[in-house]
Amino acid sequence: MCGIVGYIGTKNAKDVLLDGLEKLEYRGYDSAGIALFNQEGVQIFKEKGRIQDLKNEVPIAAYGQIGIGHTRWATHGKPSKINAHPHQSESGRFTIVHNGVIENYSLLKEEYLPGRLFKTETDTEVIVQLIEYFAGQELDTKAAFRKTISLLHGSYAITLIDAEDPEVLYAAKNKSPLLIGKGNGFNIISSDAMAALKETKEFIEILDEELISLTRDTIMIENLNGQKMERDSFIATIDSSDIEKGTYPHYMLKEIDEEPAVIRHIIQSYQNNAGEITVDQEILNEIMAADRIYIIACGTSYHAGLVGKNLIEQLAEIPVEVHVSSEMGYNMPLMSKNPLFIFITQSGETADSRQVLVKVKEKGYKTLTMTNVPGSTLDREADFSMYLHAGPEIAVASTKAYTAQIAVLSILGAAVGKQKGIQAANELDLVAELGIAANAMEGLVASKELIEHLAAEYLAVSRNAFFLGRGMDYFVAMEAALKLKEISYIQAEGFASGELKHGTIALIEDATPVFAVITQKNINWNIRGNVNEVLARGANACIISMEGVNQPGDRLVFPQVHPLLTSLVSVIPCQLLAYYAALHRGCDVDKPRNLAKSVTVE
Ligand code: F6R
Repeated sequence: MCGIVGYIGTKNAKDVLLDGLEKLEYRGYDSAGIALFNQEGVQIFKEKGRIQDLKNEVPIAAYGQIGIGHTRWATHGKPSKINAHPHQSESGRFTIVHNGVIENYSLLKEEYLPGRLFKTETDTEVIVQLIEYFAGQELDTKAAFRKTISLLHGSYAITLIDAEDPEVLYAAKNKSPLLIGKGNGFNIISSDAMAALKETKEFIEILDEELISLTRDTIMIENLNGQKMERDSFIATIDSSDIEKGTYPHYMLKEIDEEPAVIRHIIQSYQNNAGEITVDQEILNEIMAADRIYIIACGTSYHAGLVGKNLIEQLAEIPVEVHVSSEMGYNMPLMSKNPLFIFITQSGETADSRQVLVKVKEKGYKTLTMTNVPGSTLDREADFSMYLHAGPEIAVASTKAYTAQIAVLSILGAAVGKQKGIQAANELDLVAELGIAANAMEGLVASKELIEHLAAEYLAVSRNAFFLGRGMDYFVAMEAALKLKEISYIQAEGFASGELKHGTIALIEDATPVFAVITQKNINWNIRGNVNEVLARGANACIISMEGVNQPGDRLVFPQVHPLLTSLVSVIPCQLLAYYAALHRGCDVDKPRNLAKSVTVE
């Protein structure tokens, strides 16, 4: 959600910025722009739409050795060329890009900026006008910037150029991600490492309410009191080739294909020399000391959390509640005496989840983040972390992170269960079972032709679809529906199949597509009964089942895996169904409309 790149160095900033913005496309955006400083002053180019549209706007000869770039996901003011960043102060002296939401922007505008000319509907323009206002009160640029950010309430990542001192790039952040990319004779600011990887692998973290001044050769980090901060750099473990599509038409397809390998990588990462699953003892102690676990997450990660509840309750015998982050923070349930919070987040930057983390930390509760992005905000701010080891996930629709989350949750559940001596955990050879699941996943990713055919048959023209399941399969049904709606725009619902006849079955009519996921023996006949009920009302039903519970007529049957790990496998055909349905309908699979990969505003 929004992305920032800033560059100061000896190369043409235009190239670095446009390349960096392309790498940030995956975060989701609706317009983009760059500002370049050269002999003619600051030149701004912006456009609604894709980076390619922006590229068409920027003359080949455009040049600058300092510049800032931005991808915007509209919050204040509609997506348009005028509202796209960068934005300038009234005189044109200051130029900024900004991610986040300034909650008190209208108050600040009223108090400090009456009579100023505003060109846009954005909160960002208030920031840049304020900087100019304070610079007019005899403050130097850094002091004016510091004074401005001290007044802002809300989330921000900002990068600033002063046309009167184009040898410095300023930046600051609060709650929104921003990193320094350290180079030899250049420095970069970016929302995440991906945008800068082509130039450098060395990064420095920026903390909330710090003020950064970068020249070509120096990096200065100060807190809001002007005190200098020292911080070591770190080397990013991802490689620029990890974020290339290669020969794949879409990142989503590549990421689905990677899922079996991700599971194998997770097994290796959580295995000790004796080949046993191992988790940091401190984490295990905290979990064993907890009387209840609260899983907090959004979207796909929430769906993985629902599966995780079953895994932890069955393997570790600790009660688990799963909550949607955006609800949890403002409507906390009555908490148990000694809770532990697990935040599941692919990006580690989701603002809805972070606001819960901040609140529960204030109450002194212990927190664990499961994330795919080491160094992300929720990784840094939680007491403990477990990594997903899925590699960068670029497609907006989450696929490999979901299965990675389930695999890591199973590892956590089994490790706690084993220490507690729980029979279900002792009897589970998780390394072997995850390996079997990875093989079954591999079989499914190789069945693309069949799944593409099913997508064409059931989803090519339908305007809605239902996914049914019970138990673990219900959670997968919810994820299947989310995947389908977000990339194909077909209205879809995941349903506990027994609940259908209590209202929703009224929506079933001739040829309504209904998919049923069946992997659990104990509910096999119940869900088949529910499928018959929708068939009797004209539905076009398709059963996806696992060997051992399959019946003649099931359209897709995959090999048997451990009953606790079925979600890892049954979700694959659902992800592929969504992919091919979106493709058939001509949708932009990797960048669905209105969505952002990293949701950094509440
Ligand atoms: C759906 C999807 C979203 C995310 C959600 C949480 O495909 O990607 O629903 O799962 O926005 O994001 P993270 O896991 O980064 O906190």
